[in-house]
Amino acid sequence: MNPLLSRLQPYPFERLRQLFATVTPSPDYPAISLGIGEPRHATPEFIKSALTAALGTGLASYPATAGEPTLREACAAWMQRRYGLELNPATQVLPVNGSREALFALAQTVIDPTRAGATVVHPNPFYQIYEGAAFLAGAQPYYAPSDPSRNFAVDWDSVPDDVWARTQLLYVCSPGNPTGAVMPLAEWQKLFELSDRHGFVIASDECYSEIYFRDEPPLGGLEAAMKLGRTEFRNLIALTSLSKRSNVPGLRSGFVAGDAALIKPFLLYRTYHGSAMSPVVQAASIAAWNDEAHVVENRRMYREKFAAVTPLLSAVMDVALPDASFYLWAGVPAFWQGNDTAFARELLAQYNVTVLPGSYLAREAAGHNPGQGRIRMALVAETAECLEAARRIVQFILSRG
Ligand SMILES: Cc1ncc(COP(=O)(O)O)c(C=O)c1O
Repeated sequence: MNPLLSRLQPYPFERLRQLFATVTPSPDYPAISLGIGEPRHATPEFIKSALTAALGTGLASYPATAGEPTLREACAAWMQRRYGLELNPATQVLPVNGSREALFALAQTVIDPTRAGATVVHPNPFYQIYEGAAFLAGAQPYYAPSDPSRNFAVDWDSVPDDVWARTQLLYVCSPGNPTGAVMPLAEWQKLFELSDRHGFVIASDECYSEIYFRDEPPLGGLEAAMKLGRTEFRNLIALTSLSKRSNVPGLRSGFVAGDAALIKPFLLYRTYHGSAMSPVVQAASIAAWNDEAHVVENRRMYREKFAAVTPLLSAVMDVALPDASFYLWAGVPAFWQGNDTAFARELLAQYNVTVLPGSYLAREAAGHNPGQGRIRMALVAETAECLEAARRIVQFILSRG
């Protein structure tokens, strides 16, 4: 067996299952889960229709790993409308089967494990695929902590120079999961300078880019590069997904865009890995990228939900409306003395509401787990259900004085 497999950590939901194994949820309340970050708004009908219409011819041949030119053009056209970017669909865009597999596969393409101390830097807390991708590529992850005093911006300055020197890949996540923080241009500039100095690749995970609460849409990685005159996007690749934007997590569709010198070897890797997108999925994806009305409506629903739920919770715990994403990243009240797992267990036992302990989304580094004492709440259910969960959480917290 590949010995690197033994380095993979249990997924947060597996740890949650174990945490709850000895808890009896209160039978007085119907179960509500804010645990899993899976979109639950309805999939638009026109996307389903495009999928079924493609069944006629779509299953009869092997798809090319590069995808149909029409799909790549639709992706590039969306990047143009959203960020003002002029990308070459043939060389700077590549469809992927959701951003998760692409985040993973990119590390396998980029990392040279024969170079001493191969390192992947990523935020802490973080989306667990970054760490697993680093391990299986033969690299060591370095956990860069997010700073609660700066709207959970990642403290890149805390990464020592000798770590940057051996870094081959940096994952950034903006808007962030679980913090919702959006990276401003100055932060991008700092990372581009570090990448230029040390030669590492930046993978920009942008799958929450369309769910935002401020007037201004989140800055994209390629957009930041363009604003700073980096028109070739050297060593930069952005990963975008339909899952959250269009409520199609089951479609498995997204794309990567950026440095053509990275896209080319990535396509080669993917050809051998066998990760071509089904023509049926490609047809549905073209329809989804070409439409913005459903995205505006989706965002409106999240905004309405967050506007209703956040004030209830912020009255009793340390939580605020994030820049973007569909998570609330809340501090547990002092009564629990930073014990996020105890909070989650007691809440389930007394009010049948599931939340995810923040410590499961982060790693202890330099003696500190930056997720400790926080919980992540995914507001993916309908507003009424999220409101009901929030009311129960308020009652739960108030019952402890
Ligand atoms: C930060 C982050 N990146 C990537 C993904 C993967 O999304 P998908 O593979 O559906 O595009 C998720 C899914 O929850 C996520 O939270």
